[in-house]
Amino acid sequence: MTEQKPVTLDKAKPVPTLPDAQKVTAVTHYTDSLFSFRVTRPASMRFRSGEFVMIGLMGDPHPETGKQKPLLRAYSIASPSWDDELEFYSIKVPEGPLTSKLQHIRVGDEVILRPKPVGTLVHDALLPGKRLYFLSTGTGFAPFASLLRDPETYENYDEVIVTHTCRDLADLAYGRDLIANLKQDDLMIELLGADNLEKIRYYPTTTREQSPKMGRITTLIETGALFSDLGVPPLDPSIDRVMVCGSLAFNLDIKALMEKAGLHEGANSEPGEFVIEKAFVG
Ligand code: A2P
Repeated sequence: MTEQKPVTLDKAKPVPTLPDAQKVTAVTHYTDSLFSFRVTRPASMRFRSGEFVMIGLMGDPHPETGKQKPLLRAYSIASPSWDDELEFYSIKVPEGPLTSKLQHIRVGDEVILRPKPVGTLVHDALLPGKRLYFLSTGTGFAPFASLLRDPETYENYDEVIVTHTCRDLADLAYGRDLIANLKQDDLMIELLGADNLEKIRYYPTTTREQSPKMGRITTLIETGALFSDLGVPPLDPSIDRVMVCGSLAFNLDIKALMEKAGLHEGANSEPGEFVIEKAFVG
């Protein structure tokens, strides 16, 4: 009899993985400073279109201890609540602690995603109305990319006016292509309805590069140009509802304009006539 040596399986070492890791499934770069990416969606994660989550990467190791901490920022989910993946739209800031790294992610990489969605750019935070405005600057378009693909948007409103203001024409690409594709994609037409997609009125403007419509949306609201261009009456608190997402300065200026027009800010706990959220920056 030969002595049998107990077989010791070389136990596989656990593969290091980020906490709350999700895998990147697609990355699209639009300009030197804008990109979008898609990641896997945690099976148990539910959210309302328009909400945001914290996402990020591990930070650099501490110079003495070598310990790494997650570097997280709030990002609006740009995909609708029915999508089996999650999409995000981001700026790239060369010196930004997170985006200087995040801009280099590739398909197959991992990002950290805390699956606790929150936010006020949701249908529940608005009172019933007839005309819905999405007012955005820069990456503030992201929550509207989600809401524009949600059937509830069209069930609730007769008209959906989407304004997006950026410095240059190329910065409009993500939103412009998304809306154009919505109207051509058979799956989207089937899900949302061709008649419903006709409710979308897209109003892009630039402030630096020459384009068919120039100017800050705040100015175009104040002068009334937005309404006359679209052939709609000025803001009316009894039928108009507004969702706003952009920089802090933009949000403050829009808030003042909404209040001047007699609209009240809403929240999840107390729906109103307009809602605001700051776009992710840095
Ligand atoms: P502007 O070029 O006149 O500053 P940014 O790239 O700085 O985030 O800005 C994105 C877009 O939002 C730009 O077109 C910018 O116009 C516009 N914007 C910035 N601040 C405001 C504001 N307070 N009100 C209206 N539009 C703004």
